[in-house]
Amino acid sequence: MESFKGEIVTLLADATGLGADDVEGLLGTPPKQDMGDFAFPCFTLAKERKTNPAALANEFAGKLAPSGAVREIKAMGPYVNFFLEPATVAEDTLSRAFREDIDYGRSSDGQGDMIVIDFSSPNIAKPFNIGHIRSTAIGHALYNIFEFLGYECAGVNHLGDWGTQFGKLIAAFKHWGSWDDLAEKPIHKLLDLYVRFHKEAKENPALEEEGRAWFKKLEDGDPDARDIWQHFRDLSLAEFQRIYADLEINFDAYTGESFYEPMLGETVQFIKDKGLAKKSQGALIVDLEDYGMPPCLLEKADGATLYATRDLAALMFRAREYKFAQVLYVVGNEQSLHFKQLFKVIELLEFEWAPRCHHIPFGLIRFKDAKLSTREGNVIFLEEVLEKSKQLVRDIIREKNPDLEDADEVAHQVGVGAVVFNDLKSRRIKDVSFDWNELLNFDGRTGPYLQYTHARICSILRKHGEDVRADVDFTRLGEKAERALVTRVASFSQRIRNAARDYEPSLISEYLLDLAEEFNSYYANHRILLDDDADLRAARVLLADVVRMVLRNGLKLLGLQAPERM
Ligand code: ARG
Repeated sequence: MESFKGEIVTLLADATGLGADDVEGLLGTPPKQDMGDFAFPCFTLAKERKTNPAALANEFAGKLAPSGAVREIKAMGPYVNFFLEPATVAEDTLSRAFREDIDYGRSSDGQGDMIVIDFSSPNIAKPFNIGHIRSTAIGHALYNIFEFLGYECAGVNHLGDWGTQFGKLIAAFKHWGSWDDLAEKPIHKLLDLYVRFHKEAKENPALEEEGRAWFKKLEDGDPDARDIWQHFRDLSLAEFQRIYADLEINFDAYTGESFYEPMLGETVQFIKDKGLAKKSQGALIVDLEDYGMPPCLLEKADGATLYATRDLAALMFRAREYKFAQVLYVVGNEQSLHFKQLFKVIELLEFEWAPRCHHIPFGLIRFKDAKLSTREGNVIFLEEVLEKSKQLVRDIIREKNPDLEDADEVAHQVGVGAVVFNDLKSRRIKDVSFDWNELLNFDGRTGPYLQYTHARICSILRKHGEDVRADVDFTRLGEKAERALVTRVASFSQRIRNAARDYEPSLISEYLLDLAEEFNSYYANHRILLDDDADLRAARVLLADVVRMVLRNGLKLLGLQAPERM
């Protein structure tokens, strides 16, 4: 559509006397297909020229003559609307998509600018909690989206592998744990130790003191404490990495909180030197009262550092190391205040890159599954969820398509995809419900529905039995449904840009659901593999093939696989 836009911009610039950039900024897409392909609003211009917008729209429409791909130009209320020749649009769109294939939708907008994306970032020795699942899905999708738009991305896993809880864990381990015991399900076992510590500490407050002492030892580099901590970290990381492998996610760095430990002294010193730190009730803080926020804690009274201290060190490190154009923190909404404080301190430290730090918050998951929702502390084992999802899909396949080859592999792709898509299907700030029936509904607004539509088109193409041709008679794609599909396909790259602009993968999910729905209803009402009209068949096959490519490319951006049979 970009090339047609250029044509129209030139026409309008002539007629209105505006610069091309201004015209381009104003030119939009009408809400309905029967209102044409582009609409130029006359409100601002009419105001400037002290006339009414509809009259002005009429005047412009009178001056403009259709040419090239533009078939008709008419005033519609306060807008000038442009109607393109459908066959030209179809030809331009479909042949380009067909040619670009896996690269359709890609752009070089980002020009290699660096985007650091901090996502997933679970806490060692604790299972993934629901927030980490969402962060993983949303962060991974954003990573793919920005990369597709020509940015360089660094996916950073800010593991929660440091802090006072490790003192407690070591104390608990010394009392009740053993390496043999941890070997099998380390995260489960570490969680048990942690829970037990808290229970027993209620009766026996001396435990808290022990925990603090162990963390102090850890921070002071005590070999025994370090060694135990290192084991906890290795065991947990191995477990997380199994999940990431399942989801086909690669991180560019596993620089967790502990990584910044050697930089904490200089970070705090730097803040002191800037005159920002002050003592308050024994602790070291940055006062943020002037900005209506509680203070940012740098050191507790006993000198122990905090989550915020480590995030400050991490952010300064990232600025030096990555020279980022933007850094994104894909972390739950409940940490909004933490990030406001963090970015405020960075601003007060007068770093010019302060405005390029963004918190990308998201809502909660609400479980309909009683088993999941009653577990203490919203603890949830993602691995169990993924396993169950795969199992349920496996059952569905066994019932619906018992002869499917690679059924296990397909169940894996669809099972995992269903869970991931559930996190991406609506605006990230909204809470999502987690309901097996909803999530795995092959006819609902789900990942499996998109994957199924994709596989269905693959099957049509297999039945077609010949290579798809791009040199078809595009005038044959004149049905309303066909034009709608072409328009949808043409807007794919703009959709990806919008998703990046708003940090909102759901814009792509929504787009794909609309595309799939449009295709399925088209297919319900039109034959594609016609026996008596080879030209029409070739044109429709091309259209179907392109829809398939867009579905696959979009699913990939969201982190889902697109199996060819299911
Ligand atoms: N580990 C943290 C948590 O589980 C999330 C870390 C997010 N990233 C960051 N740089 N603070 O809540």
